[in-house]
Amino acid sequence: MNRLQAPLFEALVRHYETEPVGFHVPGHGYGHIYEQEQNKAMNWLSGMMRLDVTELSSTDDLHHPEASIAAAQKLAAQCFGADETFLLVGGSTSGNLAMILGVCEPGDLMIVQRNVHKSVLNGLKLAGARAVFVTPRIDEETGLPTTPSLENVEQALELYPEAKAVMLTNPNYYGMTTNLTSYAELVHRYNSLLLIDEAHGAHYGLHPSFPESAIKSGADAVVQSTHKTLSALTMGAMLHLKGERIPRASLKEVLAAIQSSSPSFPIMASIDVARVMVDRYGAAWFEPGVASVQAFRAWIEQEDGALKVLPDDQSSAAYDSLDPLRVVLWDRTGTFTGFELQKLLEEQGCWAEMADIKNVVLVWGSRTGEAARLRLQAACKQIERIIRDNPLKSVRVSTSSYPGNGSPNPLKPVEWSRKKREQQRLPLVESEGYEVAEMIIPYPPGIPILYPGEVLTKEMIGYISTLAENGAKFQGAVDSMMQTIAVYPR
Ligand SMILES: Cc1ncc(COP(=O)(O)O)c(C=O)c1O
Repeated sequence: MNRLQAPLFEALVRHYETEPVGFHVPGHGYGHIYEQEQNKAMNWLSGMMRLDVTELSSTDDLHHPEASIAAAQKLAAQCFGADETFLLVGGSTSGNLAMILGVCEPGDLMIVQRNVHKSVLNGLKLAGARAVFVTPRIDEETGLPTTPSLENVEQALELYPEAKAVMLTNPNYYGMTTNLTSYAELVHRYNSLLLIDEAHGAHYGLHPSFPESAIKSGADAVVQSTHKTLSALTMGAMLHLKGERIPRASLKEVLAAIQSSSPSFPIMASIDVARVMVDRYGAAWFEPGVASVQAFRAWIEQEDGALKVLPDDQSSAAYDSLDPLRVVLWDRTGTFTGFELQKLLEEQGCWAEMADIKNVVLVWGSRTGEAARLRLQAACKQIERIIRDNPLKSVRVSTSSYPGNGSPNPLKPVEWSRKKREQQRLPLVESEGYEVAEMIIPYPPGIPILYPGEVLTKEMIGYISTLAENGAKFQGAVDSMMQTIAVYPR
């Protein structure tokens, strides 16, 4: 096996080059179906479809890999420092489901960071697991939640030594990163498993300026969205396993159940190619992106205007480092919310990853270079002018946002089940003291701020209203404008 090759991608190209006549699914027949259309965009689609095949003797089978997929997975494991790696075609979402379902039987207990992606909560629900939620640390400067402290995780392990696993998310959506080595040592001392949702850290450990990856820090299983910060197609992700503790057979069984029996070959091939670029070029693959972010940071500092970025050399009690490829940008005058800033950037053709009330999060790709940076700087200059020309309406943006856990019983297991309970719908403003009956998930980032069973506090109601007023979108809730909320009758 040659790590400078992409066995799956190359197998698909070889297959196409034999000019196959397909009497098999998919029905677009290598994209030829659209070639006659006088439509440029359809011709692009047709181009992508050339590699969109099915399980053939010349390709392989994700659920029983023996040839090019097996080789692609082995090379990925070598590249990322895992013992075994699985290609995922359902994003980190499918990896999170697989980790939880692979480790937990109904009634089993897991210790879980509470500010997790909804896929983790859905995993707990499907598994019928019990979860002990550990409160995250809150960064003082930004009010943003990160991972829980080591002490809080230990306290939970002390109370629940039967925990099958501890599941953490690292980094957070803003690139705030915790060094996980001491967490792995702690969790293993309690004979438990460390599962990490590293959806936003697929590039970790691959450049000297990036934080160490979770798998190399001692985690037992790690999920990464290869499509987020490396170059795979959307939905392309990886699940890495390390060591003997993790029940591999059980995980494989679950992956076969939750992933399609017709996984997308273009997605899998793009994961293979994302990996080979790392193996071919090493850290140099990321240099343009790293240099461009550094130049943007320096420019913002030198401009010394209304727009500010979270400094990457600042220490915080809530995290150890910041992802160098991510920038958190805000208007320090408080004239514009993060949502408004995002819109102003979009009007000038610059599309950010996400916004919250205060911040915009900008993600650099490994090859996002100078032209993109200059465009962004021009957009920022224009926003600076708008801020200067518009006397401050009022400072509407508070620096501290996340009001914390509404749970009256921290560290008490929450039972997750798909069983229905009676519910009622109340105006949000009248819901204080009720247990919420739906997940409240501002999107992005898709991380629930309330989950069923948590009690609505005055602070939380205020926080939800402010988010809604400022244009946040909500998933999980029936009323996406959050005028009303589902609660359990008292
Ligand atoms: C922390 C975290 N975990 C998991 C996911 C799901 O990843 P994917 O979109 O690859 O399914 C996301 C998506 O944004 C996320 O932010």
